Amino acid sequence: MTAETVKYEHPPSSSRSSPIPVPPLIETPTADKSVQLAKLIRESFAAVETKSEELSQYFYGALFAVSPDARALFPINMATQRNRLLRALVYVVQMVDRPDELATFLGQLGRDHRKFDVLGRHYDAVGVALIAALKRFLKDDWTPEVEDAWVTAYGVISKSMREAAGKEVGPAWWKATVIEHRVVSRDVAIVKVRTDQPLPYRAGGYVSVEVPQRPRMWRYFSPATAPHDDGTMEFHVHAVRGGWVSRAIVHHTRFGDVWRLGPSLGALSVNHTESRPLLMIGGGTGVAPLLALLDDMSRWKNNPPVHLFFGGRRPEDLYALDELRGLTVTCPWLTVTPVTEEGAVTGGDRGTLATAVTQRGAWKERDVYVAGSPSMIRATIAKLLAAGTDLGRIKYDPFTLD
Ligand SMILES: Cc1cc2nc3c(=O)[nH]c(=O)nc-3n(C[C@H](O)[C@H](O)[C@H](O)COP(=O)(O)OP(=O)(O)OC[C@H]3O[C@@H](n4cnc5c(N)ncnc54)[C@H](O)[C@@H]3O)c2cc1C
Ligand code: HEM
Repeated sequence: MTAETVKYEHPPSSSRSSPIPVPPLIETPTADKSVQLAKLIRESFAAVETKSEELSQYFYGALFAVSPDARALFPINMATQRNRLLRALVYVVQMVDRPDELATFLGQLGRDHRKFDVLGRHYDAVGVALIAALKRFLKDDWTPEVEDAWVTAYGVISKSMREAAGKEVGPAWWKATVIEHRVVSRDVAIVKVRTDQPLPYRAGGYVSVEVPQRPRMWRYFSPATAPHDDGTMEFHVHAVRGGWVSRAIVHHTRFGDVWRLGPSLGALSVNHTESRPLLMIGGGTGVAPLLALLDDMSRWKNNPPVHLFFGGRRPEDLYALDELRGLTVTCPWLTVTPVTEEGAVTGGDRGTLATAVTQRGAWKERDVYVAGSPSMIRATIAKLLAAGTDLGRIKYDPFTLD
């Protein structure tokens, strides 16, 4: 693999390739109608899920036939992407009955999609390709009701994204230069970058990243630091097995590499006036957004008690433990418990994070923050609910698609 630095022309802050017009006459469905639509969408998609590989190939074929210029928006080797757009699209469309959760996310996603140079007509083309692919694979199950459900849901969702993108006047992406790269464990690196102009974000959120070693393969990473005046931010990256981007970052990043960062997304945040004690649960590099929250909180005068469980399979996976223990010295409101599945750590618990946390109770008096891989988040939330924790108190990013 080459590690050459790709030079990007930085867009002026108000530039867009063209406005993203919003089609008229798309009405937001009522709550009852949304529930019906979501049911029809889930049921109909379940019938073709086993054929998702062929469906996806047909979808991309149709998309690039309808809109040949859309091909340039995607990575050169589509096979490496494992149907990212189609999977994401279906996942989001199925959530049409959860408008409150979707509203903020779709606004963020629409603004974020400006980094791909997506135009209004691409949204139409994606809609046409999606419907054509579903119709072909659903065959007799493609009824007028099912068609109406998909067309309405896609219309509502794409309208929200287009509206948000159309209103945004900030940069579509920020240039960030790597100023430090440290491999801190077998497969984790800490990378510090400096953006050329301030990238507004909230501690606890995440941004989309493109690195020069993997052009057009954007991935989400959570800054592990709160926003700093000097424009620096730190990312903690775990090289996943067979991972295209994460392995390139951990093993091939060079000082001076120029990254592109998308606008910030995410909903994890701590309310400054919140006085409830907090429970934070971070698995592996999932601890990054929690570190950013702690970095932010360490600047406040008063903080609620925070108990952070930091988990990994083995002791060497707890790459941020020294930093966290250092923080407990300067932040007396912070308690840190390391958790490992194999091998012991002094003062730590053994087992999965979910077990370690719930064996100490339901933490009913705390607001709970969970961050990590989708499977770790699912397992931890399931155990917390079974232990009696109130779902309304559990905060996590529900859109953690890989
Ligand atoms: C909101 C959000 C925030 C994130 N923040 C961080 C972060 O701060 N640090 C970080 O290291 N990663 C983070 N990720 C994960 C990151 O975006 C990538 O998914 C991950 O780096 C894998 O990308 P890849 O190109 O290397 O793997 P791909 O080439 O896309 O996938 C290769 C293989 O790895 C599997 N895989 C994909 N993602 C994961 C994963 N997360 N864990 C285990 N296996 C996986 C795939 O199923 C596939 O089999 C975050 C993801 C989301 C959605
Ligand atoms: C309702 C409409 C849409 C939804 C809900 C949606 C959602 C998503 C999500 C969640 C991702 C994964 C996150 C990411 O990589 O940033 C993604 C990726 C992507 N989307 Fe969209 N998207 C929509 C429309 C479009 C349109 C119209 C285009 C333009 C053709 C587009 C182009 C892309 C591209 C290029 C990627 C990266 C995929 C890859 O790397 O293979 N999306 N989309």
